[in-house]
Amino acid sequence: MKLIEELVRTAQQPRVRPLEGLRALVTGASSGIGLATAVRLAQEGCHLNLVARRRERLEALAKELKKTAPDISIEIFEADLSHSDSPANLDSAGAADVDILVNNAGLAKGLASISDSNPADWAEMIDTNLRSVFELTRRTIKKMILKKSGDVVAISSIAAHTSYNNGAVYCATKHAVRAFHEALRLETLEHGLRVVMVSPGMVDTEFSLVRFSGDSRKAQSVYEGIRPLDAGDIAESILFALRQPRHINLDEIIIKPQQQGNPWNVCRTR
Ligand SMILES: NC(=O)c1ccc[n+]([C@@H]2O[C@H](COP(=O)([O-])OP(=O)(O)OC[C@H]3O[C@@H](n4cnc5c(N)ncnc54)[C@H](OP(=O)(O)O)[C@@H]3O)[C@@H](O)[C@H]2O)c1
Repeated sequence: MKLIEELVRTAQQPRVRPLEGLRALVTGASSGIGLATAVRLAQEGCHLNLVARRRERLEALAKELKKTAPDISIEIFEADLSHSDSPANLDSAGAADVDILVNNAGLAKGLASISDSNPADWAEMIDTNLRSVFELTRRTIKKMILKKSGDVVAISSIAAHTSYNNGAVYCATKHAVRAFHEALRLETLEHGLRVVMVSPGMVDTEFSLVRFSGDSRKAQSVYEGIRPLDAGDIAESILFALRQPRHINLDEIIIKPQQQGNPWNVCRTR
């Protein structure tokens, strides 16, 4: 009976790790999942290093966040992560000295068979989704290892698990993102780091608009007849993982709309 009493008593205690005062680097914070994650981290009292190409968006976000979280510090870093020198420049500017790294920036460009697709699109996806992630992570974890603490969160995708036709290179980059973070988790166990992957299905962001080069009609048709996830749903999963006590590593969260079974099996209501 004493054991049950003890179990009930301790189960009622919140097991939440506070994030207040930690600093997070969020790539791709100008839109979608990255933006929503920055908002949630700010609400938790995290200081922020925000990275994207669209500086004006980051400035608008910082201004807005300051209204409700005046005590946090927000640094803005304008960078094109498809350029090979960007991670080094970000590191020199102090962006990589953080407690939390959210590897979020990424894109799919085009929806075409390999024979019809454009190698320039492949290069942009490989450089942004992969090369910059490898290099920025390398630079960031060096500092985390010295502190014997830190969290790396990768926004992967269900495309990291199941490839779909006309998305070969995007799927290949997300498979690689998953493999990279899996290995990173193994390598950093001994240093006290945590590595978490969040792998979404369809999320209604600018993702499809970018994929279809600004064609909003095509982009909207992706979500026709279903209720997709929104960026806040993904941010909530990220926060859930980060707020776990440090002895818990949530290796991967796969999150899809209720109407989506896999990349191509979607139950649409007409
Ligand atoms: N939406 C989905 O259905 C879905 C599903 C699974 C996984 N994901 C993944 O989720 C992540 C975020 O995508 P999202 O859905 O939030 O799309 P989004 O709304 O298009 O946001 C993408 C973000 O990445 C940034 N970005 C893209 N290229 C960049 C570059 N070269 N340099 C710096 N920043 C760059 C963009 O900022 P700037 O344009 O200002 O640079 C933007 O902030 C991506 O890795 C994507 O693969 C999305």
